[in-house]
Amino acid sequence: MLSQISIFNLRNITEISFQPAKGINLILGDNGAGKTSILEAIHLLALGRSFKARTLKTTIKFGQKQLQVIARAANDTPVGVQFDEHLGLKIRLNSAPLKRLSDLAMQLPLQFIPANCHQFFEQGPRYRRQLLDWGLFHVEPSFNFHWQSYKKILQQRNSAIRQHKKIEEIQLWDTHLAEHGEKITELRRLQLDALLKEFEAVFQRICPEYQGATFSIKYRTGWNKDKKLKVSLQDAIEKDRQLGYTRSGSHAADWSFTINDFNPAEVFSRGQQKLFFLALCMAQAKITEHVKHEKSILLLDDISSELDLAHQKNVLDELSNLPVQAFITATDHSLDLHEKVTVFHVKQGAIL
Ligand SMILES: Nc1ncnc2c1ncn2[C@@H]1O[C@H](COP(=O)(O)OP(=O)(O)O)[C@@H](O)[C@H]1O
Ligand SMILES: [Mg+2]
Repeated sequence: MLSQISIFNLRNITEISFQPAKGINLILGDNGAGKTSILEAIHLLALGRSFKARTLKTTIKFGQKQLQVIARAANDTPVGVQFDEHLGLKIRLNSAPLKRLSDLAMQLPLQFIPANCHQFFEQGPRYRRQLLDWGLFHVEPSFNFHWQSYKKILQQRNSAIRQHKKIEEIQLWDTHLAEHGEKITELRRLQLDALLKEFEAVFQRICPEYQGATFSIKYRTGWNKDKKLKVSLQDAIEKDRQLGYTRSGSHAADWSFTINDFNPAEVFSRGQQKLFFLALCMAQAKITEHVKHEKSILLLDDISSELDLAHQKNVLDELSNLPVQAFITATDHSLDLHEKVTVFHVKQGAIL
């Protein structure tokens, strides 16, 4: 959770300082006012990167050389990021420099929900894996160890394949790769079970048309499910050598939902697809709080796109009962004001 946020020289913002509420913060303003830029600043603070631009250079206010975002996190801990055209990114936590971005992410669990999140179903498996792994990163300390180890070993194996090393040399990596891969699968399955439980309740509340529906989740391990990963790797060695990389494993995993036995992408309206994604993120926030005993941050850009007022209100009602600090943007006049919401009006890069 954040308090006292200050943003300097980011996009059209020269300087903004505000004290966000612990619950729902609604950022209202016309097109181009700077609403999404405030979310971008918070994203940068928690993750060290933008959700909009690959390079932070475009994020610095035109004509300036450096941007800065500072805030206070849990227990009043000061946290700050600075990006300078020439000096790059600098992160400080509790007044000391931080080396790894993942340390920052661990401090501030944050989920970003883009305006076009209904396109979730059109995204590839990498996106779905990332969503699942976000939760695991925050609730299961061993996950990060297994995933980082897995990735390193996979790189080594792939590089042995590319260098046309002997089969025995390639297979030197298989035992450890398989051990971490099996563990990752086990953890992802557990997380999906927990996610489904929370998701069902949230989704039926924010999308009452689907009350009483049945949901299920299917996890695809990324290799032949009837075999152990080690055996799959051995069996596919010739294929991998032809392809030039390791095809099977946890890096190729995917998962899918069904609703009343159908693929939601083929049944849901766009608004319902958006509610679906929102419910997934809310479910993740719930699980994270159970374990971390800490509110996470939810950035929701443009709540009004694809959703009518009744469904927007359902989302706000749900969020107000969730362990999250939410930052939500909307254009003025489009949203019914809700009693549990703290409103900030933004105009030309300033909070009025
Ligand atoms: N590097 C930059 N320097 C100055 N202005 C920028 C920069 N990048 C984008 N802008 C402008 O900042 C404004 C705010 O954008 P944004 O936060 O996306 O608005 P909205 O309130 O509609 O979400 C826009 O007018 C945009 O064109
Ligand atoms: Mg915007």
